[in-house]
Amino acid sequence: MVSVPDPRPSGGVTRRIERMTTKTNMETFVSLSKRRGFVFQSSEIYGGIGGFWDYGPLGVEMKNNIKRSWWRYMVQERDDVVGIETSIIMNPRVWEASGHVGTFADPMVDCKSCKHRFRTDDLTQAGKLPDDKGPDGQATIKCPDCGGELTESRMFNLMFQTYVGPVQDDASVAYLRPETAQGMFVNFDNVLTTMRRKLPFGIAQIGRSFRNEITPGNFIFRDREFEQMEMEYFVIPGEDEKAHDEWIDARMRWWTDVLGVRKENLQIREHSKEELSHYSKRTVDIEYDFPFGGFSEIEGIANRTDFDLQAHTKVSGKKLEYYDQENDKHIVPYVIEPAMGIDRCFLTTMIDSYAEEEVKGPDGRSDKRTVLRLAPQIAPIKVAILPLSRNEQLVPPARKVWDMLRTHFMTQYDDAQAIGRRYRRQDEIGTPLCVTIDFDTLEDQAVTIRERDEMTQIRVPIANLAETLREKLPGCYTG
Ligand code: GAP
Repeated sequence: MVSVPDPRPSGGVTRRIERMTTKTNMETFVSLSKRRGFVFQSSEIYGGIGGFWDYGPLGVEMKNNIKRSWWRYMVQERDDVVGIETSIIMNPRVWEASGHVGTFADPMVDCKSCKHRFRTDDLTQAGKLPDDKGPDGQATIKCPDCGGELTESRMFNLMFQTYVGPVQDDASVAYLRPETAQGMFVNFDNVLTTMRRKLPFGIAQIGRSFRNEITPGNFIFRDREFEQMEMEYFVIPGEDEKAHDEWIDARMRWWTDVLGVRKENLQIREHSKEELSHYSKRTVDIEYDFPFGGFSEIEGIANRTDFDLQAHTKVSGKKLEYYDQENDKHIVPYVIEPAMGIDRCFLTTMIDSYAEEEVKGPDGRSDKRTVLRLAPQIAPIKVAILPLSRNEQLVPPARKVWDMLRTHFMTQYDDAQAIGRRYRRQDEIGTPLCVTIDFDTLEDQAVTIRERDEMTQIRVPIANLAETLREKLPGCYTG
């Protein structure tokens, strides 16, 4: 573990950010998530199922906040992007046209002894090649789990198959979508005509995607069922490269300025020619420096050219083009696509906001706290209401304050154990503000607001409380 200086003001708090470097340290987040109700293993009582996760009461709040923030930034605050929601199962010809039936595959190998399965590219990364030579003098790769012999590498299609209707035959095969993007392409004409759009314009969608990943793992980083937030931005060919650069900047700003992820933990990586997807002219990834394996993709921003619209036109026989009135010609637009996964974003914000700190109590004694310094918009609970104790005089005013605040903010009422412990519990789940009701409240009709990051406290009349919280929590007030 390495201590990293934090650029944000610490107000007398010694902050230690644990930059995790080993797999064990991911356990910190798995266990925090389980303990505090963020993320549970799917079907846990049956031993779980690899690559599937459930979001608990706090997790679903945080996930919804991430979606809201993205939608606001990508749709609500723009005049050139509209949203849609399309079905998960589509006509299977969609996936023939998009190239997924033919090419959406990873190379894999099986161990002949222990039967474990690996992505070939995972085994051929630096450091994983064994030194021993086979009979022909070539380096042979052994099973990293048991040292057994591996099969030949072969391609494995990542799409989940199912059947539509009562008959299970080749004609009824369908797929769970591996990306939300195709829903936007096949609805290009519907949106264009119903919304009377002019180029450039975008179509955004949030929804579930499914990939039968060979090796899911690193908690919620690589899943078999996950959620994506994608936007297809249609532009006049020739204007695509500029739009691509603009979207790369805009997306980085969302990660840093809106979500508050620290710049030094993010990087932009250009795809090499060899790794570009079949549809892409240029792709850059936004990567985060994860405790496992360092910088890894959290969002891809691709120039998909006119590949998808052309492909669907060819296979469906329906023209997907734009009539340019000024120049009296039909255009097949190019597409810039910022595409990200919510689960990876969830993990990123949790890791990036995590800190273990030494704090001094009012008696001058040192104490430890764990805190998630989440941006208030992302925090699952905005305000905690904490009566000093369960004393019968304090309960009625505390419940009254809770009733008042519940309609405006996501809140939590907690009266179990000592007040110091309750502050720690709220710090650990990232609650930006706590409101404490004490015996003075009975006299002065005021409460104490305690702030998560600096742990400062102010006294506020109950009559001004909702308005004060609203000012302190921009974007968190729900009416
Ligand atoms: N439409 C383009 C597309 O789907 P991608 O790079 O394969 O591109 C986009 O996926 C984003 O979706 C990734 O940056 C990642 O955040 C998320 N993602 C992809 N596969 C995932 C998986 N198995 N588990 C969790 N998130 C995943």
